[in-house]
Amino acid sequence: MPDLLQTRRFGRDARWLKSAGSTNAEALGWAAEGVPEGALVGTDHQTAGRGRQGREWRDSPGHNLLFSIVLRPSIPTNRIGLIPLAAGLAVAEAIEQQTGLSPILKWPNDVLLADRKVCGVLLEGQFQTRSASDNLMVLGIGLNVNQVDFDPAIAGNATSLSLESGQIVPRQPLLAELLHRLEKHYESLPLDNGASVRAHFEKRMAGIGRMVSVAFSYSENSIAGTVLGVADDGALRLRTSEGVEILHAGEITLATANPLVS
Ligand code: BTN
Repeated sequence: MPDLLQTRRFGRDARWLKSAGSTNAEALGWAAEGVPEGALVGTDHQTAGRGRQGREWRDSPGHNLLFSIVLRPSIPTNRIGLIPLAAGLAVAEAIEQQTGLSPILKWPNDVLLADRKVCGVLLEGQFQTRSASDNLMVLGIGLNVNQVDFDPAIAGNATSLSLESGQIVPRQPLLAELLHRLEKHYESLPLDNGASVRAHFEKRMAGIGRMVSVAFSYSENSIAGTVLGVADDGALRLRTSEGVEILHAGEITLATANPLVS
């Protein structure tokens, strides 16, 4: 793997574990010891993989990419939402480069193939408003690479690169490509205030220009509108009957037939 790496920092310090509870938890512990930005913890299997909104993230051992990167972001607090977007974008580009498949991005951070989820991203940690040097975050990425059997509860909404391409996909070159793209997009954030990440994200954005419904975990109400794109801080821009709304959370569903998976 080191000989495949094209990065300056991402993945240069690395721990690969046969099995772990959660790589996000491992990386947070390692980060607290002062490891540099870009350090990576990966594993072949998680026994307590964490998903968004308290969900579990399950895997079939030895088949997928499951890893976390230590970040010490120096961008303004209100731009932190751009980091998961940069991650989804890096994943989509690496998939395309390595397999020829063309993933789309479901705001805020799901990567989809054939309307099914192939990758999830989870950003955790502490963000200090006073001193950027105290920021300590981990970016966890779970990418279904060669898994072909999924838990019946998610089978209809999940897929893998192998299922979509009909081939076994080598994990190491894919990881090296992904880290290269991730480092590039992450490092662009303080340089152009996220303009490049937003523009590239919108080109692959699921539902853009279409009517969608956005549901919220904290409310029974949903909002209908047309997806306009991504706001400066990574929020969703939606045109509704009231005007343009900026949403910082929510689950998008297409207003027609195929719902985008969660
Ligand atoms: C989601 O719910 O979509 C986010 C899933 C994130 C899963 C990854 S796997 C590696 C890292 N470690 C974890 O415990 N979770 C993330």
